[in-house]
Amino acid sequence: MSDIPGYTHGTPSVARSPVSLTDFEKMKASVLFGEEDVKYLRMSHDIVKGHVEAILDVWYGFVGSQPHLLASFSGKKDGKPLGDYLGLVRKRFGQWILDTSLAQYDQAWLDYQHEIGLRHHRVKKNKTDGAPSTDVVPFRDLFALIFPVTFTLRPFLARQGHSAEDVEKMSAAWLKSCLLQVTLWAHPYVKDGDF
Ligand code: HEM
Repeated sequence: MSDIPGYTHGTPSVARSPVSLTDFEKMKASVLFGEEDVKYLRMSHDIVKGHVEAILDVWYGFVGSQPHLLASFSGKKDGKPLGDYLGLVRKRFGQWILDTSLAQYDQAWLDYQHEIGLRHHRVKKNKTDGAPSTDVVPFRDLFALIFPVTFTLRPFLARQGHSAEDVEKMSAAWLKSCLLQVTLWAHPYVKDGDF
């Protein structure tokens, strides 16, 4: 059991995903995600586990440098960045880096993906940390962040002397995994029946 506040992966408090593992298999096929991607994500684990804080520094630096993004971590009333909220989410974000690289796609993982989606959406945003922040992460920002997240990860993947081909394949696997995850997180944003 993790001691990260609010990280409820694998606990009974997480509701079942409306997306089945069978549907998820089809989503994987849609993005050309296969066993090779699992292999390369797990190869990346040994690299990213040693650089979690440095990776988070880059990603938080990016969000912090853009006022419209930082707004999602700021006070709803005064618009000032909420240091506690940023810090608490950062710990779970660090765990997410490790989880993504472990690529264990079981029911508990699928359920937690839905939970992460709800936490970006107005259904659950702010609730985990009791943060007095904005109501929803706008979907237009959520989706677009896939590019900076994966593009800025690449130099880290190249740090440990892997071949150019391995770096390329790890990078592609991360991109596909992020596309799959953010698609799952989109569920609460999509009209009933349209997902
Ligand atoms: C929470 C990842 C896009 C704002 C989180 C968490 C993760 C994450 C792992 C913590 C989940 C947990 O509670 O365990 C990502 C990824 C993104 C993305 C991979 C895109 C590829 C965005 C964008 C924003 C944003 C664009 C807006 C600037 C937030 C906020 C929380 C959060 C405010 C806290 C939600 C809460 O109140 O519980 N994100 N995120 N995220 N993210 Fe994102």
